[in-house]
Amino acid sequence: MTNKINFDLLVDRTHSESDKWGKYRGTDILPMWIADTDFPVAAEITQALHARIEHGVFGYSHPSPALIELVVERIKKLYQWDIKAEWLIWIPGVVNGLNLACRSIGSSGDGVFVPSVIYPPFASAPELSDRIRRPVPMVQSKARWVLDLQWLQQNITSDSRLLLFCNPHNPGGAVYSREELTRLAELAVIRDLIICSDEIHSDLILEPGLKHIPIASLNPDIANRSITLMGTSKSFNMAGLGCSFAIIPQRKLRLEFKKARWGIVPAVNILGLIATQAAYEHGDDWNRQQVDYLRANRDYLIREINQIRGLKLDIVEATFLAWIDVSELKLDNSLAFFEKAGVGLSAGRDFGDDRFMRLNFGCPRSLVEEAVTRIRLAVSDYWAA
Ligand SMILES: Cc1ncc(COP(=O)(O)O)c(C=O)c1O
Repeated sequence: MTNKINFDLLVDRTHSESDKWGKYRGTDILPMWIADTDFPVAAEITQALHARIEHGVFGYSHPSPALIELVVERIKKLYQWDIKAEWLIWIPGVVNGLNLACRSIGSSGDGVFVPSVIYPPFASAPELSDRIRRPVPMVQSKARWVLDLQWLQQNITSDSRLLLFCNPHNPGGAVYSREELTRLAELAVIRDLIICSDEIHSDLILEPGLKHIPIASLNPDIANRSITLMGTSKSFNMAGLGCSFAIIPQRKLRLEFKKARWGIVPAVNILGLIATQAAYEHGDDWNRQQVDYLRANRDYLIREINQIRGLKLDIVEATFLAWIDVSELKLDNSLAFFEKAGVGLSAGRDFGDDRFMRLNFGCPRSLVEEAVTRIRLAVSDYWAA
């Protein structure tokens, strides 16, 4: 059991080559856009990095057998999914994985299904891979964003064999249930669809009682047509260290994926591997405390945002990202409006829906409170004008 972690601590990131804080350096705009948190990593991760840095030699490297075993055991313990070590392919980023999936399945000109409301690199991956993006409509069902499976069923063709799926969903925050996943998996099996499932937020489930279920863990049939992408960058706040992995049970899919990376995607850097091993070995208690902290931030935000006239925030089951409906304000440029208010958000239009803005609440509560105060004031001035 580690000590109580102080997630209220404000760490100055303005001169740390941070994308998030660099964007607004020298302004009074709170950066709440790109998806990293402002929390220092678990102490054991920093210690492991220090120890490796002390060694002083940083040649080509590979994951240790201990790290591979940790991942295999972790997936079994957390998700009751028995994976084999040889199914793992280490990649610097999950976005690499999405693009490699597009390149390794089908051929030039094929369609790739992508949720219509989604983290932007999903939308660009097909075209970057000389494929055609086929948006699958997402609909709101009981305040959660879900795929329109009926649409998908009617639109699968022999030259559109890949679906990029995101669970938990960014930006909507939905954690898909066993029933929802089973319906999608059945469709995939019947219609010969391969699912590349981005599960990078799997260890950030905020809603009590919900559990992350990798779609590939449902049964061997769906496992055989799946590429699951996971990593430590979100849950342990190590995006700058670049260490993720794909789990690909089917040999042929695995070989095609490996072939697509040759000569283009480098091996994972040694510091990313060391940090990931430390996170999986020692970080679970830290992450449990982080999830509690994020849940409190979320509850506060939902309460406050929904009291501001014209803004609406539904349940965020997972992630540290709030998908706020600002459509009632009828703004021409929502990003500029909130920046002028002193809060830097992500524009919903980049995620496929310009009625929304995304707010990253992975930061000390005092910053979330300050952001709410600024937003409340700006919106109230807006209505008064
Ligand atoms: C759903 C999702 N996938 C992938 C990424 C990026 O992953 P990586 O930095 O490992 O490429 C993010 C980052 O926000 C994300 O939210």
